[in-house]
Amino acid sequence: MGRKILLEKINVENIHTYDVYRKEGGYEAVEKALKKMTPDEVVEEVKKSGLRGRGGAGFPAGMKWSFIAKPEGVPRYLLCNADESEPGTFKDRYLMEKNPHLLIEGMILSSYALGCNTSYIYIRGEFMWILRILEKAIAEAYTNGWLGKNIKGSGYNLDLYVTPGAGAYICGEETALIESLEGKRGNPRMKPPFPAIKGLWQCPSVVNNVETLASVVSIVNNGGDEYAKIGIGRSTGTKLISACGNISKPGVYEIELGLSVEEFLYSDEYCGGIKDGKRLKACVPGGSSVPILPHYLVTKTSAGEQRLMSYESLADGGFATGSMLGSGGFIVFDEDQCIVRNTWNFTRFYHHESCGQCSPCREGTGWMEKVLHRIENGHGHKHDIDLLWDVQRKIEGNTICPLGDAAAWPVAAAIRHFREEFEWHINEPVKCLEKNYGLVKEPVLAI
Ligand SMILES: Cc1cc2nc3c(=O)[nH]c(=O)nc-3n(C[C@H](O)[C@H](O)[C@H](O)COP(=O)(O)O)c2cc1C
Repeated sequence: MGRKILLEKINVENIHTYDVYRKEGGYEAVEKALKKMTPDEVVEEVKKSGLRGRGGAGFPAGMKWSFIAKPEGVPRYLLCNADESEPGTFKDRYLMEKNPHLLIEGMILSSYALGCNTSYIYIRGEFMWILRILEKAIAEAYTNGWLGKNIKGSGYNLDLYVTPGAGAYICGEETALIESLEGKRGNPRMKPPFPAIKGLWQCPSVVNNVETLASVVSIVNNGGDEYAKIGIGRSTGTKLISACGNISKPGVYEIELGLSVEEFLYSDEYCGGIKDGKRLKACVPGGSSVPILPHYLVTKTSAGEQRLMSYESLADGGFATGSMLGSGGFIVFDEDQCIVRNTWNFTRFYHHESCGQCSPCREGTGWMEKVLHRIENGHGHKHDIDLLWDVQRKIEGNTICPLGDAAAWPVAAAIRHFREEFEWHINEPVKCLEKNYGLVKEPVLAI
């Protein structure tokens, strides 16, 4: 059994209530930090732990915290990103719904470390029931003296609020989230300045993912060095993975980083293999924004090494033969799935969610959706694959925020690895409506 940190107590009955959470050792990390540690010492432990942001980009959390500006007399804010709208990613909602106090405790510790006296949880608008759960838990934390003025006699004050979004994926991008929190339309801002300098209401702010903040509890309790012992290389600690698609056991799993993809996919402790004994066709290992891997690159890298669930190993080979750990949304496709259809479906999402500020993303996602739709429906032209390639190239890197990249990468990877399936759709327009293509062939490298 892999080690559990975030989900260790998830099945304890009524762990969502204050009394049970406290009985199970809850808020001991806050007690320890407020009594025995300075804010800088908490930052130091997080740096030592090697914890990387769990929202997608994997930026080291301690380093991000150390960038926060500290001008005299200006408030600082910690903003928890609970927008979780990436197709295939559903880990944060599980954690918040089942164990809300873990996030609250992580937020108190992180706010203390950053010197924030007001912090916010920005939660996806559709998660209204979880917002209620969080509000109840926050009220319990106030009643028991963990939030508010002079927390446990330490002289430290913190107010914590939950704010719902309105169901827009773009509001998960950190500067769009800040705009939305300020009550404006959630359009990403130009950077620099980065939020650490000018964030919420132009004040220094840090945006962190739910899982990142919840992980701070164990780091403070056991020390950064202990946390860093788990995992592999620069991928330290554990990671929540939401597994879905054609697997026997979809769900949210906590893994030690460095576990082999093969074990995660095929063992009964995790996904339990491909459903109904079918063959694996492809896998998107980190949420809809990351490149898709064909079956022959899922458990092995192009160099023939075992592929691991880590930031480095999943990215091995760059975008030519690798992908990303991203937000941990592990989507599995069996041999009956159509890659063109899936690419069209993802692209439809990005087109719908593009905020429209940048023309390459606003127009490009729409063009890609149209072209993919006609290929999928048997009306593709022979130049359409090159057209798609051209459009995605013009989006990538040319937008204010990474939503453009997130829309371009899945299209590029689908063409790179599944070109023969796209060609088949164009050359066999009738067949492609009746049946699926099956597995693509593994390319043979000329030596
Ligand atoms: C379009 C878009 C949507 C995003 N959605 C989320 C999200 O729902 N949750 C999240 O934590 N990060 C999301 N991110 C990443 C955030 O911008 C940011 O990097 C992250 O919240 C930082 O937290 P971390 O350092 O703890 O990972 C999104 C990014 C983009 C471009």
